Amino acid sequence: MALKQIALLFACFAIVAAENPYRFFNWNITYGTIYPLGVPQQFPGPDIYSVTNDNIIVNVFNSLDEPFLIHWNGVQNRRNSYEDGVYGTTCPIPPGKNFTYILQMKDQIGSFFYFPSLAFHKSAGGFGSIKILSRPLIPVPFDPPTDDFSLLIGDWYKSNHTALKKILDNGKKLPFPDGILINGRGPNVTSFTIQQGKTYRLRICNVGLQNSLNFRIQGHKMKVVEVEGTHTMQISYSSLDIHLGQCMSVLVTGDQPPQDYYVVVSTRFTTPVLTTTGFLRYANSNKKASGPLPGGPTTQIDWSLNQARSIRTNLTASGPRPNPQGSYHYGMIPTVRTIRLASSAGQVNGKQRYAINSVSFVPADTPLKVADFFQISGVFRVGSISYTPSGGGIFLDTSVMGVDYRTFIEIVFENSEDIKEYRGAEYDTRQWTEASRNQYNLRDAVSRSTVQVYPKSWSAIYIALDNVGMWNLRSEYWARQYLGQQFYLRVYTTSTSLRDEYPIPKNALLCGRAKGRHTRPF
Ligand SMILES: *[C@@H]1O[C@H](CO)[C@@H](O)[C@H](O)[C@H]1NC(C)=O
Ligand SMILES: *[C@@H]1O[C@H](CO)[C@@H](O)[C@H](O)[C@H]1NC(C)=O
Ligand SMILES: *[C@@H]1O[C@H](CO)[C@@H](O)[C@H](O)[C@H]1NC(C)=O
Ligand SMILES: *[C@@H]1O[C@H](CO)[C@@H](O)[C@H](O)[C@H]1NC(C)=O
Ligand SMILES: *[C@@H]1O[C@H](CO)[C@@H](O)[C@H](O)[C@H]1NC(C)=O
Repeated sequence: MALKQIALLFACFAIVAAENPYRFFNWNITYGTIYPLGVPQQFPGPDIYSVTNDNIIVNVFNSLDEPFLIHWNGVQNRRNSYEDGVYGTTCPIPPGKNFTYILQMKDQIGSFFYFPSLAFHKSAGGFGSIKILSRPLIPVPFDPPTDDFSLLIGDWYKSNHTALKKILDNGKKLPFPDGILINGRGPNVTSFTIQQGKTYRLRICNVGLQNSLNFRIQGHKMKVVEVEGTHTMQISYSSLDIHLGQCMSVLVTGDQPPQDYYVVVSTRFTTPVLTTTGFLRYANSNKKASGPLPGGPTTQIDWSLNQARSIRTNLTASGPRPNPQGSYHYGMIPTVRTIRLASSAGQVNGKQRYAINSVSFVPADTPLKVADFFQISGVFRVGSISYTPSGGGIFLDTSVMGVDYRTFIEIVFENSEDIKEYRGAEYDTRQWTEASRNQYNLRDAVSRSTVQVYPKSWSAIYIALDNVGMWNLRSEYWARQYLGQQFYLRVYTTSTSLRDEYPIPKNALLCGRAKGRHTRPF
């Protein structure tokens, strides 16, 4: 039986001028029918392959019958939150219209992905891998791999995005997913081929909606070398937990007898456990994969927590710049503020909602960043979410938290949120207290864009607020995000200098109360 799913398909072409750091993409977003158990289609979307500081110009034509936006998960969009592609910063592209995103991979390296951010489009695909390579003269702490594969893994529903959205809009929770896809395909479809004796880079991202996943390859070790832009201490693992929204790069060497091997992905912390398979093939293989599937971790949180703690920054390796990553002593910078964010779930007006510090986010009629630029009052209120849990019941508001540019802050997540940039200090399963700081890793924690918070646990991070703008901080559990578990962090300065923030782009679409305004002159 072919399972039918509506997907977002991309038509794409890129023009890359050799000595010019501009890469152009033209994408046409349409519905297409994919058959995850059969016929391959162009799904997921194309890779964005780039080098540090490249300008990426993506002209997106929306051929759907609904507004559409793409979010660039992990791309910092420095000084330019207008290009972030979430509804709090960017007006949706109306059906039949187009918008050109102008991104710069400024001072970034690593593995990320993009996905559709509005409605429940994420469940219909439309995501793709973003690879940012180091500039030619910057040393990379491993030999260039023979090839560089993207593996986008995620849980998946047979129901289409409108049906799923309807469940949520009716105030219900989503059911358990129906399966796991690897690069948009069902079991035993995805395979990648390697040569004996050669080493390959696999960039694995969890693009799913609900579940942490475990990834493993029969008979092969995976050496973790990078997570979301940090070069890590290179340690080999037999299996890896990859949480929602997270990406990591591993090196895999063809050091086994030439045959096919299973690639296995399974859900974590769930009953039942969903499992899917793909294949690692040796080019000279004539033997099919056989034997039992390699098993995943059997213990729950502790195993995962210990693995997370073992993934550390290689302090002597270069990042996007030639200086070693360890020259930034984050543990010695005083913090000006501690923000404690508690997650909660409950009903409001008989409908399921999720909240952070009791506030369940509701979108405004105008993107917050756009309203801020045109100084349109009454769209949002800075301070509509408190810095620490209030303990009260859940209520609805357009929550925006104000923080000052160029300050250094601590955030403790008390119970899975995504933020722009952070350095993870510690994860724990107990209650957070001030004394918990004694166990922080103040030396070589990894800097990444999504942090996991285990059940009944806390995770603590530090952030340098060096990027002026309006940034979406949200749960990566997509239904929770949709039902309010998100807010915007407004990183503010009184400066109007272009060195601190770019003005609204000339081609910005204007909607809501900003309709009819002019992006120039100023
Ligand atoms: C996008 O694709 C649709 C369906 O194939 C087509 O009708 C439309 O003309 C395309 N638009 C652009 C801008 O290429
Ligand atoms: C839409 O695409 C055209 C080129 O086809 C481009 O000139 C225009 O700037 C795009 N519109 C926006 C809002 O980016
Ligand atoms: C850390 O990076 C340095 C510099 O590139 C490299 O020589 C070293 O092997 C790396 N160490 C580990 C454990 O990955
Ligand atoms: C989505 O599924 C619903 C019910 O299963 C169906 O009525 C609807 O036509 C589908 N929508 C699309 C765009 O395929
Ligand atoms: C995938 O292949 C394995 C091994 O050949 C087999 O056991 C499994 O049933 C297959 N899965 C599906 C859904 O066809």
